[in-house]
Amino acid sequence: MRVPMMAGNWKMNCDLDEAEALAKGVVEGVGSIEGVAVVLAPPFTALERVANVITGSNVKLSAQNLYWKASGAYTGEVSPKMLTSCGCAYVIVGHSERRGRFGVPEPDMTDDLIRVFGDTDAAVNTKAKAALGTGLTPIICVGETLAEREAGLTDAIVRDQVIAALEGMDAAQINGVILAYEPVWAIGTGKTCESVEANRVIGVVRAAIDWVAGAGAAADITVLYGGSVKPDNVRELVEQPEIDGGLVGGASLKAGSFNELVTVTKEVRGS
Ligand code: PGA
Repeated sequence: MRVPMMAGNWKMNCDLDEAEALAKGVVEGVGSIEGVAVVLAPPFTALERVANVITGSNVKLSAQNLYWKASGAYTGEVSPKMLTSCGCAYVIVGHSERRGRFGVPEPDMTDDLIRVFGDTDAAVNTKAKAALGTGLTPIICVGETLAEREAGLTDAIVRDQVIAALEGMDAAQINGVILAYEPVWAIGTGKTCESVEANRVIGVVRAAIDWVAGAGAAADITVLYGGSVKPDNVRELVEQPEIDGGLVGGASLKAGSFNELVTVTKEVRGS
């Protein structure tokens, strides 16, 4: 049985007081909901403050990134154990805003920073394994750019990213990951991938999981869609059979809209 999920990726937003207020709004609205995993991913600096707010509720904590080493001379990095000590149960790995495989900016991509962090497929794999090894559930993001989609490469890119992310994991480890299909061109742009197309590509994600872990393995794995999920499109997305929920940026920054995403997911997919 796959658990539906709504995860809010706050990205580089919210100082401590803003984070606390937003988390309180989520706890008050959907903190006791069951049948849908509700996950908040604040910036590192706010993890502990948000952890204090969600204690005793059903809301779970995620980080947005991690480094794979346990400790040492890695200036600016954060280890898996540091995250678990803050109360994290999840960590986002390989978000397109952190990946570095893109060489040429697309014409419609005005924010240079989107490509500067340099996570390769191998780094994503190493980070995901480090997360699993510390008891964190990695939410592994995959997705094609607009140029790749227009070149007809969507399925190949997504399949290759999934296979690379899961490389060297055993079946039990693969069973412990969450995948998120996030077409890069739909993130923060207001352009949502059509629900039928998102469902189809998530089918490609599941086929890649089965290819690595054996037939049927993907049936138990939660796969999210991300990219401009909002209250007015969430229903048609989660009504699709392959889409188990969302990884949400913009619409997670207001408790009202995020809580609505959770409520609709519960209505459509919750047990
Ligand atoms: P968005 O971001 O909802 O603002 O498009 C999604 C994501 O980057 O995870």
